[in-house]
Amino acid sequence: MIHIFSSSMASQTKKNTACVIGGTGFVASLLIKLLLEKGYAVNTTVRDPDNQKKIAHLIALQHLGDLNIFAADLTNEESFNAPIACCDFVFHVATPVNFASEDPENDMIKPAIQGVHNVLKACAKAKTVKRVILTSSAAAVSINKLNGTGLVMDEKNWTDVEFLTSEKPPTWGYPASKTLAEKAAWKFAEENNIDLITVIPSLMTGPSFTPHIPDSINLAMSLITGNKFLINGLKGMQMLSGSISITHVEDVCRAHIFLAEKVSASGRYICCGVNTSVVELAKFLNKRYPQYQVPTDCGDFPSKAKLIITSEKLSSEGFSFKYGIEEIYDQTVEYFKANGLLN
Ligand SMILES: NC(=O)c1ccc[n+]([C@@H]2O[C@H](COP(=O)([O-])OP(=O)(O)OC[C@H]3O[C@@H](n4cnc5c(N)ncnc54)[C@H](OP(=O)(O)O)[C@@H]3O)[C@@H](O)[C@H]2O)c1
Repeated sequence: MIHIFSSSMASQTKKNTACVIGGTGFVASLLIKLLLEKGYAVNTTVRDPDNQKKIAHLIALQHLGDLNIFAADLTNEESFNAPIACCDFVFHVATPVNFASEDPENDMIKPAIQGVHNVLKACAKAKTVKRVILTSSAAAVSINKLNGTGLVMDEKNWTDVEFLTSEKPPTWGYPASKTLAEKAAWKFAEENNIDLITVIPSLMTGPSFTPHIPDSINLAMSLITGNKFLINGLKGMQMLSGSISITHVEDVCRAHIFLAEKVSASGRYICCGVNTSVVELAKFLNKRYPQYQVPTDCGDFPSKAKLIITSEKLSSEGFSFKYGIEEIYDQTVEYFKANGLLN
């Protein structure tokens, strides 16, 4: 509901309260900052609030407004009751990520689904939650056995979990966990009458104020840093997901808040700034940052992506992306320089 009030009434109006699950992460910590800047009171959950190193960047946000930090684990049902009680919105951002796992079923798939159930159960119990926004992934949309180029994937598309679990391509556990967790969320929300929105971002980059450099930024920057393992990871991503699709993390966080507040929003929303391929990205980076001598010869690696993922539904709700590919990489390069990772 939108309240219209004069500035003299502002102090009497209750602030919207949001709970962000998994506050330490790359996306969640920026989301918390944007929510505080918009005047929300924020509860966030972290696994270990006593780990000062891991939460220092959240403590540093407390000067922006009301930010309370709670302990919660996706696998512990009761732990979500206190942080979610009395909240208007819940942003479920956390997910277990372990690309090197030898047991994806237990390391990623089961805890992701359990986490969705535990968070949504606490939302149902609270009776104050108007909407839940779940961070899904393009990895829950675009992985399939289709061939060709120029395919267009939208919110109707779901990743083919049968293909992932039977053929087990490298890193299959993460997309399987994201797809199954999102499906579990839709089922639980429908059965329990919860207003759910899922945001489906592509690979994110841009500056981060987490204590470590997030994996997704290292991956997005691999053609510039020359990290061969991660360049192979980027190629693997194109082969498995069908494209290299990149979005500025701030646009993804803005989309989360936009969709929470947009009364008419419903269903899934892809949030993707730019669709490209490894070869096209290498050519762009080589031209824009000649000093890093990004190689553009990728041998017989497919130069065109198989597909694009479209954010048309999000745009048609009135959302505008702030950052194109130039700003996304200019800001990430500056962030790497500021952290001593590039000259
Ligand atoms: N980054 C991307 O490019 C990208 C792209 C598409 C979608 N996404 C989605 O966006 C969301 C955020 O991604 P991110 O890049 O910000 O990830 P991240 O930095 O790795 O953060 C993951 C968060 O999940 C928490 N977490 C993991 N296992 C947990 C558990 N058992 N209980 C409670 N919390 C747990 C972590 O907490 P600890 O600090 O305690 O480990 C951390 O706060 C995820 O849902 C991801 O799938 C990300």
